Amino acid sequence: MPDGLRRKLTTYGDQGFSLFLRKAFIKAMGYSDDALDRPIVGIANTYSDYNPCHGNVPQLIEAAKRGVMLSGALPMVFPTISIHESFASPTSMYLRNLMAMETEEMIRAQPMDSVVLIGGCDKTLPAQIMAAASSDIPAVFLPTGPMATGHHKGERLGACTDCRRFWGRYRAGEIDEAEINEVNNRLVSSVGTCTVMGTASTMANLTEVLGLCLPRGGSAPATEAERTRLAEETGRLAGRLAAEGGPTVRELLTPAALKNAMVALQAMGGSTNAVVHLAAICGRLGIKLDTDLLDEVGKRVPLLVDLQPSGQHYMQQFHQAGGVPALLKEVRSELDTSAATIHGQTIGEVIDAVVDEPGQTIIRTMAAPLKPIGTLAVLKGNLAPRGAIIKQSAASKTLMQHRGRAVVFENTEDLANRLDSDDLDVSPADILVLRNAGPKGAPGMPEAGYMPIPRKLARQGVKDMVRISDARMSGTAFGTVVLHIAPESADGGPLAIVRNGDFIVLDVPARRIHLDIPADEFDRRMAALPAPQPAPPRGYAQLYHSHVTQADQGADFDFMQDQDS
Ligand code: FES
Ligand code: MG
Repeated sequence: MPDGLRRKLTTYGDQGFSLFLRKAFIKAMGYSDDALDRPIVGIANTYSDYNPCHGNVPQLIEAAKRGVMLSGALPMVFPTISIHESFASPTSMYLRNLMAMETEEMIRAQPMDSVVLIGGCDKTLPAQIMAAASSDIPAVFLPTGPMATGHHKGERLGACTDCRRFWGRYRAGEIDEAEINEVNNRLVSSVGTCTVMGTASTMANLTEVLGLCLPRGGSAPATEAERTRLAEETGRLAGRLAAEGGPTVRELLTPAALKNAMVALQAMGGSTNAVVHLAAICGRLGIKLDTDLLDEVGKRVPLLVDLQPSGQHYMQQFHQAGGVPALLKEVRSELDTSAATIHGQTIGEVIDAVVDEPGQTIIRTMAAPLKPIGTLAVLKGNLAPRGAIIKQSAASKTLMQHRGRAVVFENTEDLANRLDSDDLDVSPADILVLRNAGPKGAPGMPEAGYMPIPRKLARQGVKDMVRISDARMSGTAFGTVVLHIAPESADGGPLAIVRNGDFIVLDVPARRIHLDIPADEFDRRMAALPAPQPAPPRGYAQLYHSHVTQADQGADFDFMQDQDS
């Protein structure tokens, strides 16, 4: 019998009295001894009025509780931080580690034999996986699911690739204020996560690939009955795992599972942000994410999924085409099918159960992919000694090998002040450079890497330019954008020495990003770099600045990484 309410008692020497007190207090909520004498399933409630991506969480909690009770266990709902992309200042990434710490400690502190983690918006599933990887009980994940799509003038719309597309048209003067306001009403037509292959969809799908949620749990829409039924089933599974004991996240996240995640990430057109989150999750397990393997996988596994921003469609169509299991079936030869899952099947058994959707065109085949290249490429060079990332599937073919003049922005404020100035000395062949936008520099490594096309070029019809930075980019964005340069400029990285007019070489086929100045000049500038900025004087800002790691290590806190393994 699991410990249930007896878990994590703080006794000060008298266990009986501690349990007596604990029971006395919880009975104030109306629980009977029969209810309390059962395995306990904690359910993390991430509902917040600030988080529409989690707007269906109350309904999912009800269904998950029902499932837990059907299994004979007791559900206990507890709150944790909820982070929404648009309502987290200075950036949601700044708060991801706080959510991971808080969730881990709440799992540790309170009596529960297993836990259901409900998350969806970009940083929440990563934070919860990091937390669960560092916890010692079985955890079952329940993504909130993608939002429904809207429509405008005969077109289907969804957050947020279309948000950028329409805003770009508005900036270029192609549509007027009335129309952009109309679009604003229609872009996000229901609760749930962004419906393109942005970070939320990528991480939800990877949660499924990693075996941490039920099959089809990554893609079922937030507004459909299947999502709620999955919630009930998740609760039932968590109840069973609470009674029997079950695999922990640490036990499931084997090298086989991580390799499978890389294969799926390359095949689905996944977000660059997933690389940072996977690195952080790996750090919790005491391993370094093998980005060389990720790059190598991308040379063999082409882009198969026709979803924005790399393709055309939305998550609902991906789900209807069979979702993650159908995608895994296509890339089966690249997977380790023996990888275990929280629900007991191996990944191979999940694939065996796939019923093909005849006529679907969303998930292509290895023989006839959407694009012949994988999604992500890992770049190195004198500008990025510890690596950088480019989403080549969403980049312009004509810019994949490019030598251009640097137009440097000192930080995000400088960018905002000068980008649209008519005086800005910029041409379409130039390379926009943004620095001081990494984990320490900004702080929080904001999604500033997708620099808008300067207004005067946008008006001329320029849609893409090479852009490079130590920032991140939204998974919903499109363009030739080099990101996550490590180390960042605010931590001694060479991005700090780039000057206006220097030439930079981007060579994606050769996986190279290079500042084209003489080596002795390079060394002279590096030696003359000023000392890094000191940490802020207090609070979380000080903790963050003092302990955040670089992008290649997941931008987690150094003290949260597993030191023992
Ligand atoms: Fe929450 Fe996009 S803003 S998933
Ligand atoms: Mg996003």
